Amino acid sequence: MNGRHPPSHRGGGGGESPPRWTRALVTGASSGIGEAIARRLAGEGTGLVLVARGADRLEALRGELERPTVPVETLAADLTEASDLSRVEARLSASEHPIHLLVNNVGGGRLAVFPESGPEGEEGWIRLNVVPTVRLSAAALPRMRESRRGTILNISSGAGLQPSPYAAVYGASKAFVNSFSRALREENRRAGVTVTAVCPGFTETDLPRRTGFDVAKVPRFLWMSADEVARGALEAAARRRDLYVPGWANQLAAVLARHAPTGLVVAFVARNTLSLWRR
Ligand SMILES: NC(=O)c1ccc[n+]([C@@H]2O[C@H](COP(=O)([O-])OP(=O)(O)OC[C@H]3O[C@@H](n4cnc5c(N)ncnc54)[C@H](OP(=O)(O)O)[C@@H]3O)[C@@H](O)[C@H]2O)c1
Repeated sequence: MNGRHPPSHRGGGGGESPPRWTRALVTGASSGIGEAIARRLAGEGTGLVLVARGADRLEALRGELERPTVPVETLAADLTEASDLSRVEARLSASEHPIHLLVNNVGGGRLAVFPESGPEGEEGWIRLNVVPTVRLSAAALPRMRESRRGTILNISSGAGLQPSPYAAVYGASKAFVNSFSRALREENRRAGVTVTAVCPGFTETDLPRRTGFDVAKVPRFLWMSADEVARGALEAAARRRDLYVPGWANQLAAVLARHAPTGLVVAFVARNTLSLWRR
């Protein structure tokens, strides 16, 4: 059943319906979109493995979300560190309490004229946005295929739908996630495993500010809450969508990115990014 109950039993986060997945591992679960996904999953009765660097925040969240019917484990790990990544891989491939939903959510970037942070700094974004998604998917897939039950939900970005000047590595790394997700989805079509990529736009977390955007200048209609994105992302995964763009404004931008001449799109993105960059 691909880790899900039939559509008629889909839960909406209210804890009334059976969970769509028995147990999920969420990376970057201690804030923003990852936390909102974890809260929604706990609300519908899905057991959780929460992954992020900060152990205290993870423990506080576990204290809030854990119930007798909703076991919550925490795994404090820096996913850019090989040894930490190995511990998370081991949890994903463990046969006890198997994971049916992997949410590759961790990610980030910084506005810059490439290579402002130097080659090592730029590589760091690839280690954050690309490597964990590849490594953790590889760790999860064999068991999911064996049980013919599993979902991988990759939180990508609208920045990956076209080249993104001043976020060149971020945009390219998210384009990688989109392409990778779609390829895996096709490979596993007959194995009972689905893969969904989600491409949010501006989402009310601390990330846009840390990335270097002047958040006060971003028009109100472009913003979505982390919970809105989380709800849409889980619904898209449950419906086995290949790629999901949350929100009408982002969907309009995605259609333009796909159909308008690339040169115009890239110039438009560059101009908008410059106008919203806090410098
Ligand atoms: N917010 C937006 O506007 C937006 C738009 C498009 C796409 N996205 C994508 O959505 C995803 C989530 O973004 P967000 O805005 O929710 O971010 P966020 O609020 O900054 O949360 C990031 C989460 O990842 C964890 N984390 C960061 N670095 C880590 C590392 N090296 N190892 C393990 N965990 C790490 C953080 O906890 P610790 O610091 O404790 O590790 C935190 O739990 C990202 O992939 C991002 O690219 C966001």
